Amino acid sequence: MMKNANKLPKGFLWGGATAANQCEGGYLEGNKGLSTVDVMPSGKDRFPVGMGKLKMLECDKEHYYPSHEAIDFYHRYKEDIALFGEMGFKCFRLSLSWARIFPNGDDIEPNEEGLKFYDDVFDECLKYGIEPLVTITHFDVPMHLVKTIGSWRSRKMVDYYERLCEVIFNRYKNKVKYWLTFNEINMLLHLPFIGAGLVFEEGENEVAVKYQAAHHQLIASAKATQIARKINPEFKIGCMLAAGNTYANTCAPEDVWRSMEKDRENYFFIDVQSRGEYPNYAKKMLEKLNINLEMEAGDEEILRNNTVDFISFSYYSSRLTSADPKVIGETEGNVFATLKNPYLKASEWGWQIDPLGLRITMNSLYDRYQKPLFIVENGLGAVDNPDENGYVEDDYRIDYLKEHIKAMKDAVNEDGVELMGYTPWGCIDLVSASTGEMKKRYGFIYVDKDNEGNGTLKRSKKKSFEWYKKVINTNGEDLE
Ligand code: BG6
Repeated sequence: MMKNANKLPKGFLWGGATAANQCEGGYLEGNKGLSTVDVMPSGKDRFPVGMGKLKMLECDKEHYYPSHEAIDFYHRYKEDIALFGEMGFKCFRLSLSWARIFPNGDDIEPNEEGLKFYDDVFDECLKYGIEPLVTITHFDVPMHLVKTIGSWRSRKMVDYYERLCEVIFNRYKNKVKYWLTFNEINMLLHLPFIGAGLVFEEGENEVAVKYQAAHHQLIASAKATQIARKINPEFKIGCMLAAGNTYANTCAPEDVWRSMEKDRENYFFIDVQSRGEYPNYAKKMLEKLNINLEMEAGDEEILRNNTVDFISFSYYSSRLTSADPKVIGETEGNVFATLKNPYLKASEWGWQIDPLGLRITMNSLYDRYQKPLFIVENGLGAVDNPDENGYVEDDYRIDYLKEHIKAMKDAVNEDGVELMGYTPWGCIDLVSASTGEMKKRYGFIYVDKDNEGNGTLKRSKKKSFEWYKKVINTNGEDLE
C-alpha cells in the first residue's frame, strides 16, 4: 500500500467554529426572545448561574451581560464571512439561536425575521464556497421554556425541539447539509443551566434531574435524525462530545479503573447516539443511583433506529484522575475538573496542552464507534496584545494549532482514523462561554472589545490569519 504520511483527504473540511450565543448579539432584535445565555452575567455570578445553583431568570441593572451585544455578528456577518472566505474556509460551524426562530420556544408559527437572518448568513457562506455546519442548539434555550416548564427536565421539550427541526430542515434543506443536534451534550452534567437550561430546586435529586433531562435530549436528538432523513436523505447528522481522554494518575489498577469510569460518564451520551441504546454500564450506574428514568413506549425503538452518521467533538486538553483522595492539585479544563499533569504545560486559564492527547482521543473514539469523526472545536484561549493597528503576533496560538494539526494528521495517516474536517474554535474572537470574558481569545481575527463591553468592534487580522490561510491552501501540508 502506498504511504503518504503528510496528506489529508481531498475535500477535507477546513474551517472555523462559532456559536450564536457567543457572537451574534442583537439579543432582542428581529423579534428574538430571551435565551438562557442572555441572563448569564459576566463576573462572579456567572458560574453559579451556569451550574443552575443561582436562580437569575431576568436581567438586572447591576450585572453586565456579554451576550447582549457579543461581537455583533448579527450586523457584521458579511464582513466576518468575507474574512473567512479570504482564509479559504471550506466550512463554517455556527449555531442557530432557537429564540430567534421561536422567540418563546412554544410558539406555533416561527419568526420569519429570524429565519430570514439565517437564510442570509447561509447565502453569504455559499457565495464563498463555504459549507455551513449547523449546530441546532449550542448552549441555548428560550427563557420562556425555562420559566414555564423547567426546560429539558420536561418531556414537552422534545416536541418543541421537533417543531424547530421540522422548520429549519425544510427551510434550509438546499443550503445546509451538515447538522449537529446538541453542542457538547455531556456538558449537561457539568454546567446544567448552560447545557440544558436546568435550575435546581432546594433539596431535589439533582443527579436524577440531570439524567432525566439527558434522556429527553437523547430522544430529541434521535427524533431530529429521523425527521432529517425524511426531509433530505443527503443530510449528514452528527452528535457532539466535549472530548479529551482521562488518563490514570498512576498504573495502580484503581487509578486505571477510575479513569475508565470518568471516560464512561462522557461516552454514555455518544454510546446512545451512535450505537442506539443505553449501554449496560449506564443502566447499572442508574440502578445504583436509584434513578428510574421515565421512558415512553417507543423510546428504545426511536433511539435504535436513528443513530448518527458521524461523531463530532471538541478537544482542548486531556484529563487526569486518581482514585486516591489524598492526591490533590486540580486545574481548570473546559469545566471538567482534572488533576495537574506534570508532563504538560497549561494555558493562562490552566487548560493543559496535550497534542498527543488529541491523537489518543481520536483513536479511542474511532475504535469505539467506527464512524467518521469531525473535530469541530480545538484551540488556545489566550490574552492577545494588539499593536495600534490591531495586529497580534500570536505565535503561541500558531504553535498550539500546529502541534494539534500534526497529531490529527498522525491519527489519519498513521492510524487510519476517518476524519471529515477541522474547525478550530472561535475563528473570530468571541465571548468565552465559561467566564464571559472577551480577553480569552481564540481567533485568527481580532475583535476590538474588552471584558466590560468597551471597544469599536473593529476586526483585524492576526499573524495566525495568514498562517491558517496557508495551511488550508496546502490542505495541511505546509504548517510552517
Ligand atoms: C466549548 C464550547 O466548551 O468550549 C464553546 O462548546 C466554548 O461554547 C469553548 O466557548 C471554549 O470555552 P471557553 O470557556 O474558553 O469559551
